[in-house]
Amino acid sequence: MSKKQTKISSGKNAELDIINMILEDHKPLKELIEVMKDSEKGLEERQEAFAQFAPLLISHAKPEEQSLYRYMKSDEELREGGFEGDVEHQLADQMVEEILRTEDEDVWSARVKVLAELVEHHIEEEEDELLPDFKKHSETSDREKLGQLFLDLKTRLLERGGMDAPHERETHARH
Ligand SMILES: [Fe+2]
Ligand SMILES: [Fe+2]
Repeated sequence: MSKKQTKISSGKNAELDIINMILEDHKPLKELIEVMKDSEKGLEERQEAFAQFAPLLISHAKPEEQSLYRYMKSDEELREGGFEGDVEHQLADQMVEEILRTEDEDVWSARVKVLAELVEHHIEEEEDELLPDFKKHSETSDREKLGQLFLDLKTRLLERGGMDAPHERETHARH
């Protein structure tokens, strides 16, 4: 049925499970991170990668906060992980804003590299610790409900132009 490789959940409704949705979202982010942190790559290639990365990150992170992290924060065992995720998202947001305002190419490169490493580490922790913990403390029906919520939130964000706003005008990489 599905060709997905990374599957924590399986079964007939696996694609409705928020865990699988999150893993799918991480794949393109991870590919762009590889380019962004690679100083051997040309500036233009890294700028292109960042221009794609920033809106993808927003359209992943916001729904994740409002579904998965919110659920985790309401659970005694999981709440610290949910708060940690929020903090890391805030840091990444701040760095994206800073990068968009950065003119000097070397400063830009340095900031993009640090952002890439931060989000890489965040995604690794999410996949290796947070999601398995969440799975242990949730039922399939919770994960499917959250999956639906995640999708709804993401669709709403994309409809509002969340992919481009509010950064598009300023994106250094586009010039
Ligand atoms: Fe994530
Ligand atoms: Fe996250």
